[in-house]
Amino acid sequence: MEPKMNSKQENIWDLNSKWWFENVENGNFPEYSEIIVPLSSKLFLERERILDVGTGSGILARNIANNSPTHVIGLDLSLEQLLNAVAQDRDGIYIQSDSCKLPFGSNTFDGVVASMVLEHVESLQDAVSEISRVLQPNGLFLTILNHPIFQCPGSGLVEDYEVGINNPQWGVGDYLTESSGIEEISEGIRIPFEHRTISTYINTFVQHGFRIKRVLEPKIMGRESDILGGNIPRLLVIISEMTAFEII
Ligand SMILES: C[S@@+](CC[C@H](N)C(=O)[O-])C[C@H]1O[C@@H](n2cnc3c(N)ncnc32)[C@H](O)[C@@H]1O
Repeated sequence: MEPKMNSKQENIWDLNSKWWFENVENGNFPEYSEIIVPLSSKLFLERERILDVGTGSGILARNIANNSPTHVIGLDLSLEQLLNAVAQDRDGIYIQSDSCKLPFGSNTFDGVVASMVLEHVESLQDAVSEISRVLQPNGLFLTILNHPIFQCPGSGLVEDYEVGINNPQWGVGDYLTESSGIEEISEGIRIPFEHRTISTYINTFVQHGFRIKRVLEPKIMGRESDILGGNIPRLLVIISEMTAFEII
């Protein structure tokens, strides 16, 4: 990864919002239509007030709200991302703010979703602390991450295999070293990325009062899946619930 730069000063998600919008909304990431949208819509069916942290173009906020009488607020740091969200969802509620300083009172929501967001947020502690504060006891927290092992810096398809001689492999990079930097995920698309281990995520959730209910590692989809036969995950999904008492 390249050295770190401050994502807020550089408005990096503003610069990349067109690319994100076109890919997510045109269905170029099959994980959205197959896993992320249906799972989040189903999980929050019975909930009343949901916060979509780092909503991006609002794909989850919109779909969760469409599937139930739930009230959903989409929050993002990037104005450009939010303008795309509003253009898709004129009746939706979208707020520009930082996930590390949420502009809501304590116990406001009974559900929070953070999809492909926490790996871009500089302070996991601050974000999780804020999410735990605004969630009611027994509130549900759905976290979807690029899988920290299979998507860590240096991981990826090992290209130099020979068809019929050896099988395509997925190499795992520098998993145990936590790092921050900028990754070029597509030509010219440079995204701030915080690499953390799975134990850091789970221990931070537990430290802030979350009880882990389920962890999912769905099979990789798309081009890599066609090559690899789908035997590794791209996503890590953590479903947790706020405990009814404060741990720290
Ligand atoms: C990869 S996109 C995911 C968008 C959406 N959750 C989805 O799944 O389609 C990450 C989003 O997180 C937002 N983001 C990054 N850091 C943030 C922060 N500290 N506070 C709020 N939003 C943030 C970015 O602006 C971007 O829109």
